[in-house]
Amino acid sequence: MPLHRSSTLLVIAGVGSALLATPAARPQPTRVAAAGGYIADIPQGAPDAILGIVQAFRESKATNKVNLAVGAYRDDGGVPFVLPSVVEAERRILARGEKKEYAPIDGLADYTRLALQFAYGDCDALKEGKIAGVQTLSGTGACRIAGEFYSRFLPKDTAIYVSDPTWGNHIPIMELAGLEVRRYTYLDRASNTLDFDGVIRDIDAAPSGSIFLLHACAHNPTGVDPTKDQWKLISKKILARGHHVLMDCAYQGFASGNAEQDAFAIRLFVADGHSLLLAQSFAKNFGLYGERVGTLSVLCDTKEDAARVLSQLKLIIRPMYSSPPIHGALIVKEVLADAALSEQYYGECAAMAQRIGAMRQQLRDEIEEAGSTHDWSHVTQQIGMFAFTGMDVATCDALTAVHEIYLTRDGRISIAGLNAGNVATVAKAIHAVTEGKVLGK
Ligand code: LMR
Repeated sequence: MPLHRSSTLLVIAGVGSALLATPAARPQPTRVAAAGGYIADIPQGAPDAILGIVQAFRESKATNKVNLAVGAYRDDGGVPFVLPSVVEAERRILARGEKKEYAPIDGLADYTRLALQFAYGDCDALKEGKIAGVQTLSGTGACRIAGEFYSRFLPKDTAIYVSDPTWGNHIPIMELAGLEVRRYTYLDRASNTLDFDGVIRDIDAAPSGSIFLLHACAHNPTGVDPTKDQWKLISKKILARGHHVLMDCAYQGFASGNAEQDAFAIRLFVADGHSLLLAQSFAKNFGLYGERVGTLSVLCDTKEDAARVLSQLKLIIRPMYSSPPIHGALIVKEVLADAALSEQYYGECAAMAQRIGAMRQQLRDEIEEAGSTHDWSHVTQQIGMFAFTGMDVATCDALTAVHEIYLTRDGRISIAGLNAGNVATVAKAIHAVTEGKVLGK
């Protein structure tokens, strides 16, 4: 007999005697309620592949611990960085005394307009009202709504193809939305570079009308992006096969240091006339991680189509979380609406990207100086927040267990967690755990 049934009897017996007892002598139930017995059978959930490691880092008592697990920017002192432009925007918002009213279901319209301009640039479709956009709970929330949208409006058996590898959360997000998730070739694991032929082959092989999830720039977890010419060919092939595109843009500004340049793929796909959804996040490039601020947008043929799409996005959002939070959106709006503050912001974003670039170089130099004979050129070739090192699970585990360096077990390290104070130690530890091992598969 399962444990909870017999326990349930005990609880029921307890309730019976409680009815006879005086209030002062009432016994405490051993269970939350008779009907709560199922709770005892709930299995322990697996920790998240990224945030679970961050939790383990928090719990470690080691004084030399280093967090390279999560994609969150730190300054050269290892401290989370609040952009001065964001601080100024917040000061203005507080001075104005913004109210705390609910946002509309689709969020703050002025914010969404400016956020979409940031991504799409000077874009006719945007000016003509052909892009339906909503404010979302950062990029994750945008992907979640995109999944629901596809699930409701594309034929039932439509599969979504994600890069191999991709950001771990893409898979459960899309599965929970009811989509079948398949992989397309992305990384050549021997060289840690793009397997471009593999990408094209898998676009060709997927059933026409599939969804392809592409990373707009600074691919997570690999840091490997297609070149502009490769993007053009990917766009052409996807169009020829009649696939749909969900572009996830979480690092605009972090790839090159220039948000305009990093929007290349988005703007190309709009110009090429794709069936396109864009998930946009301001977590990294504005440092608004905990504010959960992003957008989802859908490129349509006409203004009328966009209006109907918007009405459906609202129907997805309302029962999910009603409406988005306002503070982060007010900040982004404040920055992007003011030319001087925007310019300041662009400079700050570029400075973050430059520090990461310098850390890449320093990490590689230090590993080589430590005596490693592996080829570490991929560390400096890759871009964005991460380096995909080629270390296997056992090597990553050793780095954590022996050296207190926390990273995801796929070998990804957040370069943003490195600084002048820890890079040499991390490099020596990486050399120690990789010496004599094969890097990549
Ligand atoms: C990451 O990849 O580390 C970030 O996008 C944080 C997250 O939510 O996984």
